[in-house]
Amino acid sequence: MFVFALMLASLAAGQGPEKPMVDDEDADMTGRQTFVENCLICHGEDMTTNQRLTTKQWTSEVEKMVGWGAPVAQEKKAALLAYLSSSYSEKSAAPKLDRADLRGLIRAEVPGESTSHGDATKGGLLYTQHCATCHGPAGMGGDLGPNLVERSILLKETAYHEAVRKGVRRMPGFSNVIKAQAEDDLLAWLRSRRTP
Ligand code: HEC
Ligand code: HEC
Repeated sequence: MFVFALMLASLAAGQGPEKPMVDDEDADMTGRQTFVENCLICHGEDMTTNQRLTTKQWTSEVEKMVGWGAPVAQEKKAALLAYLSSSYSEKSAAPKLDRADLRGLIRAEVPGESTSHGDATKGGLLYTQHCATCHGPAGMGGDLGPNLVERSILLKETAYHEAVRKGVRRMPGFSNVIKAQAEDDLLAWLRSRRTP
């Protein structure tokens, strides 16, 4: 009766009890601890933090992992589920996307090879002269041509050179206009536009 009156009072004050009447902090700690001890044996934490699931989905995910060998004690399951479904619920913000670092990708793609042999400063001038009308002043796309800065073709040097030399569909080829070195300068400039 007393508790009921208290709840009414707090509701009236516009601050309804946000959490259920259990010792949340303890439950959170147990949940987190259970997670650390039982769920990071086979894979990293991001396997979990990248998920956004409902309580029901988390329940079957945990069952699945237990089936695969996660040693979760029966009495810890509730706390673990509470931890997972409150931290990574379908309502929480989407996981942060790690934007790949272009330089890292290039190194992975072409091991040992330097990022580009071009001079980005010269490339910028060439770009304004020859490419900006279609691809926009910053390489991010214009009325006539797509964004180049975000394209994977910047990682594929052979395809890039071929596109610039021969043209692609609505884009004219530049083999008569710019030299191979200038193509490299342009590539260096385009790559430099993309910040990691
Ligand atoms: C015995 C090893 C093992 C343990 C312990 C384990 N997992 Fe997994 N988990 C896996 C494997 C294997 C995969 C699949 C990995 C892949 O697809 O590359 C996986 C995948 C996942 C996924 C991705 C979705 C899916 O189903 O593929 C989530 C989320 C996950 N685990 C959560 C957990 C949680 C939470 C725990 C603790 C209760 C846990 N895991 C414990 C082996 C384990
Ligand atoms: C007349 C307009 C025009 C000019 C000028 C132009 N482009 Fe393009 N470019 C395009 C169009 C349109 C496409 C897309 C072609 C398609 O897919 O249909 C394109 C595509 C490309 C592609 C291929 C993109 C991909 O992902 O496949 C590259 C690389 C490229 N341009 C680089 C350049 C460079 C470097 C210059 C300057 C030397 C330049 N372009 C000048 C219109 C132009």
